[in-house]
Formats: sequence, structure tokens, C-alpha cells
Amino acid sequence: MRRLRKNILRPLFKETILSKDDLIMPVFVDENLNSKVEISSMPGYYRLSITESVDEIGKAMEKGLRAFIIFGIPSSKDEVGTSAFISDGVVQKAIRGIKEEYSDAVLITDVCLCEYTTHGHCGLIEGNEILNDNTLPILGKTAVSHAEAGADMVAPSGMMDGMVKAIRESLDSAGFSDMPIMSYAAKYASAFYGPFREAAESGYSFGDRKSYQMDIHNSNEAIREVELDIKEGADIVMVKPALAYLDVLKRIKDEFGVLTAAYNVSGEYSMVKAAGKLGWLDEKQIAYEILVAIKRAGADLIITYHAMDIVDLLK
Ligand code: PBG
Repeated sequence: MRRLRKNILRPLFKETILSKDDLIMPVFVDENLNSKVEISSMPGYYRLSITESVDEIGKAMEKGLRAFIIFGIPSSKDEVGTSAFISDGVVQKAIRGIKEEYSDAVLITDVCLCEYTTHGHCGLIEGNEILNDNTLPILGKTAVSHAEAGADMVAPSGMMDGMVKAIRESLDSAGFSDMPIMSYAAKYASAFYGPFREAAESGYSFGDRKSYQMDIHNSNEAIREVELDIKEGADIVMVKPALAYLDVLKRIKDEFGVLTAAYNVSGEYSMVKAAGKLGWLDEKQIAYEILVAIKRAGADLIITYHAMDIVDLLK
């Protein structure tokens, strides 16, 4: 085997090639800010003002990144997440601002209510219960408002049953039948989202997310989730988190063969950054190795906070 491992020959046999086009960079846009604030649990990552988010996307595009997923932190929240779907909401304003400067930036929006509700849950509530069907029309309206602002793709992340179908129908009847849906299909109730909840101010005021996000012990259930989302009209299905769920990712890719995304989430980023800060690991090499592993396991697209850090290592 070693005959083919010589430095000069190795590149010829590289089976997995990570490219800039595989990566989606998350952007946190905060309507309350004039200048950026570092997220303490995610060193090197910031909440940005709307203007700064335009500049940041410009910088990323100069480095060859093309796709971005936008998360909004609104200036007002209520029980039903009104600021998620109003036409001058934070995400809607950010999309218009970014598209004005960079029309070829691919803008994906996270469609969920947790950043926009006072209780921080991903759906409407009644007492301590998270309501499923009542939430669906609001998700539909939110997706349509993103489409109207100029988004290129919507990504529902709330794990409500039937959300993909509801969003597909809303988009179609509003004239956006060519808007793709990337569904967070197999999304686990994971402790790896901890830092994100600081980043997006989406911590919840009671309970947990286990009544809608998946049980970490299960993988057959992921197959059912993905099957349903494909039937409902998902164009891309996502597994989230990524690193601790590569088995699920591989199963889904093998079983369905559809476009599959993986979300290398906030906690995965923070662990690498923390060890890097301590000088225990080579942060960039580790990030690269992790992303290669996610791609090797079957991801066609990877959402990652490491995008800017490692872009220079990629062709
Ligand atoms: C919103 C949402 C979450 C993440 C992406 N969209 C948080 C959650 O479900 O609690 C997590 C992303 C990350 O940790 O990087 N529902």
C-alpha cells in the first residue's frame, strides 16, 4: 500500500475533495446593533449589524465563498413570533441590503420562530405545550416573506410535523414555486447547540426542545423524518449536528441518494476553538479534517462556522 502514499502520488488518489462551493457560512444579523459584538462562547464569531453583514458577506465572497445562511435577532419579540414574518423584519431587511450589493450571493434563510418568540420555542405555545398545526401557517408566512425579500432558498429548522408541506404550499400559492426548500430533516435535541442560543438569543424560557427535536439515541427515526420531508417536497435534507451523527448522515445518503446537507453546529465549532486557544490542537487542520470527514460521510453541503477560517486551504 505504501507505494502509492508518496507525496508526489497522493493527490492523484484523493477520494474526497472539499471545495469552497460545498460550504455555507452562517451570518448572525442583529437589528439592535450598530457595531459587532463577539459571541463569547464562539471566539472569532460575531453578531453583526445589518450594514456589517453586507460587508462581511463581501469579504467572504472575495475569498471565494458563495453561500450564506442568515439568522436574525429582532428588535422585538412576542408570543407568536410576529417579527419573523413582517416585511421589514431583520432578516428581510438584511436580505434586501445584501442583494443590493452582492446579487450573486446565495442567501439561505433559517425559517423558525425561536429567535422571534418571547418564550424562545420553535412553535406557538399553549401553557407548556408546543403546538404543531397552529404553527404551520406562521412558518409558511415567514418563508414567503423571505422569498419576497429576495432569498434564494429557505431552510425550515423548527421540527414541526408537516412544516415542509405547509411551506411548499404557501410558497407555491404566493408565486414562488421555484424556491427550493432545504429541510432540517433529522435534527436532534442536542447539547451541541448551546453556544448558538447565546449567538441568536434563542434560549427558551421553560422546558426543553425534546417534544419536537429528535432523540439522540435513534437513527431509524431519522430515516422516517427524511422520508416524510422528501414526500412533503424537501429539495435538500439536512442532518444536524454533524460530527456526532456521521452514521446518520451516511445512512441517509445511502438510503435516499438525495442532496444531503450537514450542519457543523456551534458547539462543534466552540470545542475546536477552545482547544486551539489553549494551544492543544492545530485549529485549522482540525477544522479541515472534520469537514473532510463530514463530506466523506455523504454531505453534499456543509453549514460551518469554520468557513472563513479554512477557506484559504481550499481550491
Ligand atoms: C433554530 C436553530 C437552532 C440552530 C439552528 N437553527 C437552535 C436550536 O434548535 O436550538 C442551531 C445551530 C447551531 O448550534 O449552530 N431552531
